[in-house]
Amino acid sequence: MNTEVRNTKLSAWITEVAALCQPDAICICDGSKKEYDAMMQKLIDSGSATPLKKRPNSYLFRSDPSDVARVEDRTYISTKSQDEAGPTNNWIAPADLKKTMKNLYTGCMKGRTMYVIPFSMGPIGSPISKIGIEISDSPYVVVNMHIMTRVSSKVLDLLGTDGDFIPCLHSIGAPLAPGQKDVQWPCAPIEQKYISHFPEENLIWSYGSGYGGNALLGKKCLALRIASAMARREGWMAEHMLILRLTSPEGKKYHIAAAFPSACGKTNLAMMQPSLKGWKCECIGDDIAWMKIGPDGRLHASNPESCFFGVAPGTSYDTNPMAMDTLKENIIFTNCALTDEGDVWWEGISDDVPSHLIDWKGKDWTPASKSDAAHANARFTAPASQCPVICKDWEDPAGVPIDIFIFGGRRSSVVPLVFEAFSWEHGVFLGATAASETTSANIGAVGNLRRDPFAMKPFCGYNMGDYFQHWFSMGEKLGSKAPRIFYVNWFRKSPDGKFLWPGFSENSRVLKWMCERVDGKAGAEESPIGLMPKHADLDLSGLSLAPENLTELMSVKTEEWKAEIPDIEAHYATFGKRLPLKLKDQLAGLALRLG
Ligand code: GTP
Ligand code: SPV
Ligand code: MN
Repeated sequence: MNTEVRNTKLSAWITEVAALCQPDAICICDGSKKEYDAMMQKLIDSGSATPLKKRPNSYLFRSDPSDVARVEDRTYISTKSQDEAGPTNNWIAPADLKKTMKNLYTGCMKGRTMYVIPFSMGPIGSPISKIGIEISDSPYVVVNMHIMTRVSSKVLDLLGTDGDFIPCLHSIGAPLAPGQKDVQWPCAPIEQKYISHFPEENLIWSYGSGYGGNALLGKKCLALRIASAMARREGWMAEHMLILRLTSPEGKKYHIAAAFPSACGKTNLAMMQPSLKGWKCECIGDDIAWMKIGPDGRLHASNPESCFFGVAPGTSYDTNPMAMDTLKENIIFTNCALTDEGDVWWEGISDDVPSHLIDWKGKDWTPASKSDAAHANARFTAPASQCPVICKDWEDPAGVPIDIFIFGGRRSSVVPLVFEAFSWEHGVFLGATAASETTSANIGAVGNLRRDPFAMKPFCGYNMGDYFQHWFSMGEKLGSKAPRIFYVNWFRKSPDGKFLWPGFSENSRVLKWMCERVDGKAGAEESPIGLMPKHADLDLSGLSLAPENLTELMSVKTEEWKAEIPDIEAHYATFGKRLPLKLKDQLAGLALRLG
């Protein structure tokens, strides 16, 4: 299966990494099905993967209980000056970080195979695509990267002898002594984990974790953190956004890109099936959007990934039927529960709860058990091409022209279901001040409200103050062709803790209003925070929503919003001189409108 490496930079890098990490063997991956199957067999034989009797070519993995999500506290943007990384990123000087990590990398692949994974983010050879090479000692990473990105020997052909690529070095940080038996999910303790980015040299070094965004380096590390820094230098955008196409009953197409923080509804909205008759939604991407201004002067978005790495809990035929249909075969599941029949299970998948399961830790589970059967951040790795509503144009290198941007998050109070920005500047203010309750997509406390600007707090590869300015600059370039900006909150709760809005397919009602706003057809009234639909402007036909719930859902309470202002001021203060003045003007405007 070995493939010839002709690229000078790549062969030098492989030699250098092999000398440092000292693997027992080196394997150059070709992305073939044969390679996938062989790797999976190895993972079954070692006890890491459980084949699922009920789903063809699908496997369940259980991670170490300490290695279940991204580790933001251990994620670094290592630029020459700390100011360049900015207040939202952890920072260590490149020389110091490299020294520490080189010590960890020394001999870290002993007893293991070093896989060299050539991959493309975006279709191979497309002008928008970026080539990465991930070196990893994790066969689990290899199989996931096969689905998540385009892994192929064609990538090596494309590189030729002197083409450039983004080096992504990964080790689980668990060398094996001669004769030492491996564990099911090897990884390093938290204090040895480092997810490091060197945006000034387009370089990624990750150590100690095998999970998700910590280890599958094409996704958050390359396509967001490194790409966002490149995008700013080159005048484009790399955003934590889903992309969808909504078609009206009249056949008009609208393209929408939405930024919600991790585990706040992107996958669900991206493949939502509208409850409104005649409307159609197709998915282009569920997590990342790369956007460039096209020859038509509009902003065109494409999805650099080829998979959905989706949150399992809560996914069901009621909430997200298109995801359920995507998951029928060829799937990698991680940290889900296992049924006695050999299928996966998670909280919220259906109303019936099996009387016995093996939980995500590999232990017997019954409905009387105190803990959840699946981990809250259990995930599926699913080929995007299998989604029944994947848009036929999802791989078009030209991307799709964006009509609407949506920002949002998880707010159990204060923020209404939907409102529209007064202008691009006001929209950038809404993005820059977005706040959301934390979720289990990151290791740490869940449910804590924090500012997560543009859903990019964990993913912006440079100073967030400059990032805000980049958004203003893009708006200036786009002028009248800039997308309209809206803000949503699907997660507002009643005093008794119930979601006020049914969400999921019913979110189509909110999207319809946005489309009608774009077309100048729907009304809105001014509120201190933005333009809001009057109740009659929202199509609520056939929906049974108690009038008092609708009122609460749409309410803007002056005192609650006034209380946001000092918190936004404190958020602003962290950026010092890098905070664009326009954002201060926007906050002053809000304060004035609140009276
Ligand atoms: P990442 O993959 O972490 O970036 O997450 P994501 O933004 O794609 O979130 P996802 O769509 O996977 O949703 C996360 C959780 O929120 C799931 O448990 C969903 O069931 C739930 N969820 C999504 N949309 C809605 C909604 O409209 N209403 C409610 N109440 N819950 C929702
Ligand atoms: C997220 O946390 O936003 C994810 C999952 O999409 S991970 O790939 O682990 O970052
Ligand atoms: Mn995400």
